[in-house]
Amino acid sequence: MNELFQLIDRLEQEHSLSCDEYEVLLDGLTPELAEYAAHKASKAQHAVYGNTVYVRGLIEISNICKNDCLYCGIRRSNHNCSRYRLSEEEILSCCSEGYELGFRTFVMQGGEDPHFDDELLCSLIGKIKKAYPDCAVTLSLGERSRESYEALFNAGADRYLLRHETADPDLYRKLHPEAMSFENRMQCLKTLKEIGYQTGCGFMVGAPYQTNRSLAADLKFVELFQPAMCGIGPFIPHEATPFSGFPPGTLQTTLFLLSLLRLTDPGLLLPATTALGTIDPSGREQGILAGANVVMPNLSPVSVRKKYELYNNKICTGEESAQCKSCLSRRMESIGYRIVTDRGDRKPFQAHRMKKKEGIINVSV
Ligand code: 5AD
Ligand code: FES
Repeated sequence: MNELFQLIDRLEQEHSLSCDEYEVLLDGLTPELAEYAAHKASKAQHAVYGNTVYVRGLIEISNICKNDCLYCGIRRSNHNCSRYRLSEEEILSCCSEGYELGFRTFVMQGGEDPHFDDELLCSLIGKIKKAYPDCAVTLSLGERSRESYEALFNAGADRYLLRHETADPDLYRKLHPEAMSFENRMQCLKTLKEIGYQTGCGFMVGAPYQTNRSLAADLKFVELFQPAMCGIGPFIPHEATPFSGFPPGTLQTTLFLLSLLRLTDPGLLLPATTALGTIDPSGREQGILAGANVVMPNLSPVSVRKKYELYNNKICTGEESAQCKSCLSRRMESIGYRIVTDRGDRKPFQAHRMKKKEGIINVSV
Protein backbone atom coordinates (compact mmCIF):
# COMPACT_ATOMS: atom_id res chain seq x y z
CA MET A 1 0.00 0.00 0.00
CA ASN A 2 2.61 2.46 1.18
CA GLU A 3 4.71 1.55 -1.84
CA LEU A 4 2.05 2.91 -4.18
CA PHE A 5 2.02 6.29 -2.44
CA GLN A 6 5.80 6.38 -2.69
CA LEU A 7 5.55 5.78 -6.42
CA ILE A 8 3.30 8.83 -6.71
CA ASP A 9 5.86 10.84 -4.72
CA ARG A 10 8.59 9.71 -7.08
CA LEU A 11 6.53 10.54 -10.14
CA GLU A 12 5.95 14.02 -8.69
CA GLN A 13 9.69 14.55 -8.30
CA GLU A 14 11.18 12.79 -11.29
CA HIS A 15 8.27 12.93 -13.78
CA SER A 16 9.09 9.42 -14.88
CA LEU A 17 8.37 5.83 -13.89
CA SER A 18 8.97 2.54 -15.63
CA CYS A 19 6.20 0.85 -17.57
CA ASP A 20 6.00 -1.80 -14.83
CA GLU A 21 5.64 0.87 -12.16
CA TYR A 22 2.82 2.61 -14.03
CA GLU A 23 1.10 -0.75 -14.26
CA VAL A 24 1.51 -1.38 -10.52
CA LEU A 25 -0.13 1.99 -9.84
CA LEU A 26 -3.09 1.19 -12.10
CA ASP A 27 -3.48 -2.28 -10.56
CA GLY A 28 -3.45 -0.74 -7.09
CA LEU A 29 -6.00 2.00 -7.77
CA THR A 30 -8.12 2.80 -4.71
CA PRO A 31 -10.10 5.94 -3.85
CA GLU A 32 -7.36 6.91 -1.39
CA LEU A 33 -4.58 6.53 -3.94
CA ALA A 34 -6.59 8.47 -6.53
CA GLU A 35 -7.17 11.28 -4.03
CA TYR A 36 -3.48 11.39 -3.18
CA ALA A 37 -2.51 11.55 -6.87
CA ALA A 38 -5.17 14.20 -7.60
CA HIS A 39 -3.87 16.38 -4.76
CA LYS A 40 -0.28 16.22 -6.07
CA ALA A 41 -1.46 16.73 -9.66
CA SER A 42 -3.46 19.77 -8.67
CA LYS A 43 -0.41 21.23 -6.95
CA ALA A 44 1.70 20.70 -10.08
CA GLN A 45 -1.03 22.23 -12.24
CA HIS A 46 -1.31 25.32 -10.02
CA ALA A 47 2.47 25.78 -10.08
CA VAL A 48 2.41 26.16 -13.88
CA TYR A 49 -1.09 27.45 -14.71
CA GLY A 50 -2.51 28.84 -11.44
CA ASN A 51 -6.30 28.64 -11.37
CA THR A 52 -6.70 29.30 -15.08
CA VAL A 53 -8.37 26.99 -17.57
CA TYR A 54 -7.72 27.33 -21.28
CA VAL A 55 -10.60 27.22 -23.69
CA ARG A 56 -10.75 26.08 -27.32
CA GLY A 57 -13.69 26.43 -29.70
CA LEU A 58 -14.42 23.09 -31.34
CA ILE A 59 -15.82 23.16 -34.88
CA GLU A 60 -16.87 19.73 -36.15
CA ILE A 61 -16.41 20.32 -39.87
CA SER A 62 -17.43 16.92 -41.29
CA ASN A 63 -18.69 13.54 -40.08
CA ILE A 64 -17.79 11.85 -43.36
CA CYS A 65 -14.98 9.36 -42.78
CA LYS A 66 -13.19 6.91 -44.99
CA ASN A 67 -12.02 4.90 -41.98
CA ASP A 68 -13.81 2.17 -40.11
CA CYS A 69 -12.51 2.25 -36.51
CA LEU A 70 -14.53 -0.33 -34.60
CA TYR A 71 -15.38 1.99 -31.69
CA CYS A 72 -16.46 5.06 -33.60
CA GLY A 73 -20.01 6.10 -34.42
CA ILE A 74 -19.06 7.93 -37.62
CA ARG A 75 -17.20 4.91 -39.07
CA ARG A 76 -17.74 4.28 -42.76
CA SER A 77 -19.81 1.14 -42.17
CA ASN A 78 -22.42 2.94 -40.09
CA HIS A 79 -25.11 3.50 -42.69
CA ASN A 80 -27.50 4.90 -40.09
CA CYS A 81 -25.31 7.95 -39.67
CA SER A 82 -26.69 11.03 -41.38
CA ARG A 83 -23.66 12.60 -43.06
CA TYR A 84 -22.80 16.31 -43.39
CA ARG A 85 -19.92 18.58 -44.15
CA LEU A 86 -19.76 22.29 -43.39
CA SER A 87 -19.14 24.80 -46.18
CA GLU A 88 -16.31 27.31 -45.97
CA GLU A 89 -18.87 30.04 -45.21
CA GLU A 90 -20.33 28.02 -42.36
CA ILE A 91 -16.89 27.38 -40.85
CA LEU A 92 -15.93 31.06 -41.12
CA SER A 93 -19.18 32.05 -39.49
CA CYS A 94 -18.47 29.67 -36.56
CA CYS A 95 -15.08 31.39 -36.18
CA SER A 96 -16.66 34.83 -36.25
CA GLU A 97 -19.19 33.87 -33.60
CA GLY A 98 -16.42 32.20 -31.58
CA TYR A 99 -14.19 35.26 -31.78
CA GLU A 100 -17.01 37.45 -30.43
CA LEU A 101 -17.42 35.00 -27.55
CA GLY A 102 -13.72 35.33 -26.68
CA PHE A 103 -12.24 32.21 -28.24
CA ARG A 104 -8.66 32.59 -29.44
CA THR A 105 -8.17 28.99 -30.58
CA PHE A 106 -10.28 27.28 -33.21
CA VAL A 107 -10.09 23.51 -33.46
CA MET A 108 -11.29 22.15 -36.77
CA GLN A 109 -12.08 18.51 -36.21
CA GLY A 110 -13.58 15.97 -38.57
CA GLY A 111 -13.56 12.49 -39.99
CA GLU A 112 -11.08 11.61 -42.73
CA ASP A 113 -13.15 13.27 -45.45
CA PRO A 114 -11.32 13.44 -48.82
CA HIS A 115 -13.38 16.51 -49.75
CA PHE A 116 -11.14 18.52 -47.41
CA ASP A 117 -8.07 18.41 -49.62
CA ASP A 118 -4.97 20.55 -49.12
CA GLU A 119 -6.07 23.26 -51.51
CA LEU A 120 -9.38 23.81 -49.77
CA LEU A 121 -7.91 23.61 -46.27
CA CYS A 122 -4.93 25.87 -47.01
CA SER A 123 -7.22 28.54 -48.38
CA LEU A 124 -9.53 28.22 -45.38
CA ILE A 125 -6.65 28.36 -42.87
CA GLY A 126 -5.27 31.43 -44.68
CA LYS A 127 -8.61 33.21 -44.39
CA ILE A 128 -8.98 32.43 -40.69
CA LYS A 129 -5.41 33.55 -39.89
CA LYS A 130 -5.89 36.74 -41.88
CA ALA A 131 -9.18 37.63 -40.19
CA TYR A 132 -7.97 36.64 -36.70
CA PRO A 133 -4.17 36.96 -36.55
CA ASP A 134 -4.27 36.70 -32.76
CA CYS A 135 -5.84 33.24 -32.90
CA ALA A 136 -4.33 29.76 -33.06
CA VAL A 137 -5.66 27.28 -35.60
CA THR A 138 -5.71 23.65 -34.53
CA LEU A 139 -6.46 20.80 -36.92
CA SER A 140 -7.79 17.39 -35.94
CA LEU A 141 -8.36 15.69 -39.27
CA GLY A 142 -6.66 12.35 -38.94
CA GLU A 143 -3.83 10.73 -40.85
CA ARG A 144 -2.45 12.60 -43.88
CA SER A 145 0.79 12.57 -45.83
CA ARG A 146 3.89 14.49 -44.74
CA GLU A 147 3.43 16.77 -47.75
CA SER A 148 -0.10 17.54 -46.67
CA TYR A 149 0.87 18.25 -43.04
CA GLU A 150 3.64 20.54 -44.35
CA ALA A 151 1.31 22.43 -46.68
CA LEU A 152 -1.23 23.00 -43.89
CA PHE A 153 1.52 24.15 -41.52
CA ASN A 154 2.87 26.57 -44.13
CA ALA A 155 -0.67 27.89 -44.63
CA GLY A 156 -0.69 28.88 -40.95
CA ALA A 157 -1.98 25.92 -38.91
CA ASP A 158 -0.36 26.04 -35.48
CA ARG A 159 -1.40 22.81 -33.83
CA TYR A 160 -2.48 19.30 -34.74
CA LEU A 161 -4.34 16.79 -32.61
CA LEU A 162 -4.05 13.13 -33.52
CA ARG A 163 -4.81 10.70 -30.75
CA HIS A 164 -2.45 7.74 -30.91
CA GLU A 165 -5.49 5.77 -29.55
CA THR A 166 -3.23 3.19 -27.89
CA ALA A 167 0.51 2.64 -27.54
CA ASP A 168 -0.03 -1.14 -27.49
CA PRO A 169 0.26 -2.49 -31.06
CA ASP A 170 -1.82 -5.62 -30.27
CA LEU A 171 -4.64 -3.54 -28.87
CA TYR A 172 -4.38 -1.16 -31.82
CA ARG A 173 -5.12 -4.09 -34.14
CA LYS A 174 -8.18 -5.06 -32.11
CA LEU A 175 -9.64 -1.56 -32.32
CA HIS A 176 -9.00 -0.91 -36.01
CA PRO A 177 -9.57 -2.63 -39.34
CA GLU A 178 -6.58 -4.14 -41.09
CA ALA A 179 -6.31 -1.23 -43.47
CA MET A 180 -5.11 0.99 -40.61
CA SER A 181 -1.71 0.57 -39.04
CA PHE A 182 -0.19 1.39 -35.69
CA GLU A 183 3.11 2.18 -37.39
CA ASN A 184 1.57 4.78 -39.67
CA ARG A 185 -0.30 6.41 -36.79
CA MET A 186 2.91 6.77 -34.77
CA GLN A 187 4.82 7.94 -37.84
CA CYS A 188 2.21 10.67 -38.41
CA LEU A 189 2.71 11.90 -34.85
CA LYS A 190 6.47 12.01 -35.25
CA THR A 191 6.13 13.83 -38.56
CA LEU A 192 3.78 16.43 -37.08
CA LYS A 193 6.25 17.17 -34.31
CA GLU A 194 9.18 17.36 -36.72
CA ILE A 195 7.34 19.85 -38.92
CA GLY A 196 6.90 22.11 -35.93
CA TYR A 197 3.26 21.68 -34.98
CA GLN A 198 2.32 21.88 -31.33
CA THR A 199 1.24 18.27 -31.37
CA GLY A 200 -1.42 16.51 -29.34
CA CYS A 201 -1.80 12.77 -28.88
CA GLY A 202 -4.25 10.85 -26.69
CA PHE A 203 -6.16 7.69 -25.99
CA MET A 204 -9.43 6.25 -24.76
CA VAL A 205 -9.81 4.84 -21.26
CA GLY A 206 -11.64 1.54 -20.85
CA ALA A 207 -11.65 0.62 -24.54
CA PRO A 208 -12.62 -2.99 -25.26
CA TYR A 209 -9.72 -5.41 -24.62
CA GLN A 210 -7.66 -2.67 -22.96
CA THR A 211 -5.60 -3.80 -19.96
CA ASN A 212 -3.66 -1.87 -17.34
CA ARG A 213 -0.55 -3.00 -19.22
CA SER A 214 -1.83 -1.16 -22.31
CA LEU A 215 -2.59 1.95 -20.26
CA ALA A 216 0.88 1.79 -18.70
CA ALA A 217 2.29 1.79 -22.25
CA ASP A 218 0.20 4.89 -22.99
CA LEU A 219 1.63 6.70 -19.98
CA LYS A 220 5.18 5.74 -20.94
CA PHE A 221 4.56 6.82 -24.52
CA VAL A 222 3.27 10.25 -23.46
CA GLU A 223 6.19 10.65 -21.06
CA LEU A 224 8.73 9.97 -23.81
CA PHE A 225 6.96 11.66 -26.74
CA GLN A 226 6.47 14.91 -24.79
CA PRO A 227 3.44 16.20 -26.69
CA ALA A 228 2.06 19.72 -26.16
CA MET A 229 -1.32 18.18 -25.38
CA CYS A 230 -2.80 14.83 -24.49
CA GLY A 231 -6.54 14.25 -24.91
CA ILE A 232 -8.05 11.40 -22.96
CA GLY A 233 -11.64 10.37 -22.29
CA PRO A 234 -13.60 7.27 -21.39
CA PHE A 235 -14.63 4.90 -24.16
CA ILE A 236 -18.42 5.13 -24.56
CA PRO A 237 -20.20 2.54 -26.70
CA HIS A 238 -22.11 3.57 -29.80
CA GLU A 239 -25.11 1.40 -30.62
CA ALA A 240 -24.32 1.09 -34.35
CA THR A 241 -20.74 -0.19 -33.95
CA PRO A 242 -19.31 -3.68 -33.32
CA PHE A 243 -18.45 -2.49 -29.80
CA SER A 244 -22.05 -1.61 -28.86
CA GLY A 245 -22.17 -4.29 -26.16
CA PHE A 246 -19.02 -3.27 -24.28
CA PRO A 247 -19.19 -1.30 -21.00
CA PRO A 248 -17.98 2.31 -20.94
CA GLY A 249 -14.70 3.37 -19.34
CA THR A 250 -14.99 4.58 -15.76
CA LEU A 251 -14.80 8.05 -14.28
CA GLN A 252 -12.41 6.86 -11.58
CA THR A 253 -9.81 5.42 -13.95
CA THR A 254 -9.99 8.42 -16.28
CA LEU A 255 -9.47 10.85 -13.39
CA PHE A 256 -6.54 8.81 -12.07
CA LEU A 257 -4.90 8.81 -15.51
CA LEU A 258 -5.35 12.60 -15.76
CA SER A 259 -3.52 12.96 -12.44
CA LEU A 260 -0.68 10.64 -13.49
CA LEU A 261 -0.30 12.48 -16.82
CA ARG A 262 -0.14 15.83 -15.01
CA LEU A 263 2.63 14.47 -12.80
CA THR A 264 4.65 13.13 -15.76
CA ASP A 265 4.57 16.62 -17.29
CA PRO A 266 3.31 19.57 -15.22
CA GLY A 267 3.16 21.78 -18.35
CA LEU A 268 1.07 19.38 -20.42
CA LEU A 269 -2.19 20.66 -21.89
CA LEU A 270 -4.82 18.24 -20.63
CA PRO A 271 -8.43 18.68 -21.70
CA ALA A 272 -11.38 17.68 -19.55
CA THR A 273 -13.19 16.15 -22.51
CA THR A 274 -16.81 16.03 -23.61
CA ALA A 275 -16.72 12.23 -23.16
CA LEU A 276 -15.79 12.76 -19.50
CA GLY A 277 -18.75 15.12 -19.14
CA THR A 278 -20.96 12.53 -20.82
CA ILE A 279 -20.29 9.65 -18.39
CA ASP A 280 -20.83 11.89 -15.37
CA PRO A 281 -22.70 15.21 -15.09
CA SER A 282 -19.77 16.73 -13.17
CA GLY A 283 -17.10 14.79 -15.06
CA ARG A 284 -15.36 17.82 -16.53
CA GLU A 285 -15.25 19.66 -13.19
CA GLN A 286 -13.81 16.56 -11.55
CA GLY A 287 -11.34 16.30 -14.43
CA ILE A 288 -10.04 19.82 -13.77
CA LEU A 289 -9.74 19.04 -10.06
CA ALA A 290 -7.74 15.90 -10.92
CA GLY A 291 -5.24 17.78 -13.10
CA ALA A 292 -6.84 18.79 -16.42
CA ASN A 293 -6.49 22.44 -17.54
CA VAL A 294 -8.33 22.79 -20.87
CA VAL A 295 -11.99 22.69 -21.92
CA MET A 296 -13.35 22.64 -25.45
CA PRO A 297 -16.89 23.99 -25.78
CA ASN A 298 -18.71 23.17 -28.99
CA LEU A 299 -18.84 25.94 -31.63
CA SER A 300 -20.44 23.80 -34.38
CA PRO A 301 -23.79 24.91 -35.82
CA VAL A 302 -26.53 23.40 -33.63
CA SER A 303 -28.09 21.84 -36.76
CA VAL A 304 -25.19 19.37 -37.14
CA ARG A 305 -24.21 18.69 -33.55
CA LYS A 306 -26.30 15.60 -33.04
CA LYS A 307 -24.80 14.14 -36.21
CA TYR A 308 -21.20 14.28 -34.98
CA GLU A 309 -21.97 11.30 -32.80
CA LEU A 310 -18.77 9.37 -32.04
CA TYR A 311 -20.59 7.76 -29.07
CA ASN A 312 -24.13 7.77 -27.71
CA ASN A 313 -25.61 10.38 -25.34
CA LYS A 314 -23.02 13.04 -26.16
CA ILE A 315 -23.63 16.26 -24.21
CA CYS A 316 -23.76 19.87 -25.53
CA THR A 317 -25.68 18.88 -28.70
CA GLY A 318 -28.71 21.13 -28.12
CA GLU A 319 -27.05 24.30 -26.87
CA GLU A 320 -26.02 27.36 -28.85
CA SER A 321 -22.30 28.20 -28.77
CA ALA A 322 -22.86 31.13 -26.40
CA GLN A 323 -24.80 28.90 -24.00
CA CYS A 324 -22.12 26.23 -24.12
CA LYS A 325 -19.40 28.77 -23.37
CA SER A 326 -21.26 30.38 -20.47
CA CYS A 327 -22.26 26.98 -19.13
CA LEU A 328 -18.62 25.93 -19.00
CA SER A 329 -17.49 29.27 -17.53
CA ARG A 330 -20.01 28.84 -14.75
CA ARG A 331 -18.94 25.27 -14.16
CA MET A 332 -15.28 26.31 -13.88
CA GLU A 333 -16.10 29.21 -11.55
CA SER A 334 -18.09 26.85 -9.32
CA ILE A 335 -14.84 24.97 -8.54
CA GLY A 336 -12.63 28.05 -8.17
CA TYR A 337 -11.15 28.25 -11.67
CA ARG A 338 -11.51 30.86 -14.40
CA ILE A 339 -11.49 30.57 -18.15
CA VAL A 340 -8.91 32.77 -19.88
CA THR A 341 -9.26 34.50 -23.23
CA ASP A 342 -5.97 34.00 -25.02
CA ARG A 343 -4.41 31.47 -27.35
CA GLY A 344 -3.57 29.28 -24.40
CA ASP A 345 -0.21 28.05 -25.60
CA ARG A 346 1.42 25.42 -23.44
CA LYS A 347 3.84 26.82 -20.92
CA PRO A 348 7.39 25.56 -20.85
CA PHE A 349 8.12 23.42 -17.92
CA GLN A 350 11.76 22.89 -17.12
CA ALA A 351 11.52 19.22 -16.42
CA HIS A 352 14.62 17.71 -15.01
CA ARG A 353 14.00 14.27 -16.38
CA MET A 354 16.21 11.94 -14.43
CA LYS A 355 16.46 8.81 -16.47
CA LYS A 356 18.21 6.70 -13.88
CA LYS A 357 18.15 3.51 -15.88
CA GLU A 358 19.65 5.03 -18.98
CA GLY A 359 21.97 7.10 -16.84
CA ILE A 360 21.17 10.32 -18.66
CA ILE A 361 19.74 13.62 -17.57
CA ASN A 362 17.64 15.14 -20.30
CA VAL A 363 16.54 18.70 -19.66
CA SER A 364 13.45 19.41 -21.71
CA VAL A 365 11.22 22.40 -22.23
N1 5AD B 1 -16.02 6.66 -27.14
C1 5AD B 1 -15.11 7.57 -26.70
N2 5AD B 1 -14.26 8.22 -27.51
C2 5AD B 1 -14.32 7.95 -28.82
N3 5AD B 1 -13.60 8.41 -29.84
C3 5AD B 1 -14.06 7.83 -30.98
N4 5AD B 1 -15.06 6.99 -30.70
C4 5AD B 1 -15.24 7.03 -29.35
C5 5AD B 1 -16.11 6.36 -28.45
N5 5AD B 1 -17.00 5.45 -28.86
C6 5AD B 1 -12.45 9.32 -29.69
C7 5AD B 1 -11.21 8.76 -30.38
C8 5AD B 1 -10.92 9.81 -31.43
C9 5AD B 1 -11.55 11.06 -30.86
C10 5AD B 1 -11.88 12.11 -31.84
O1 5AD B 1 -12.73 10.56 -30.25
O2 5AD B 1 -10.14 8.68 -29.46
O3 5AD B 1 -9.56 9.99 -31.68
FE1 FES C 1 -21.83 22.73 -23.51
FE2 FES C 1 -22.66 22.92 -20.86
S1 FES C 1 -20.71 22.91 -21.70
S2 FES C 1 -23.83 22.99 -22.71
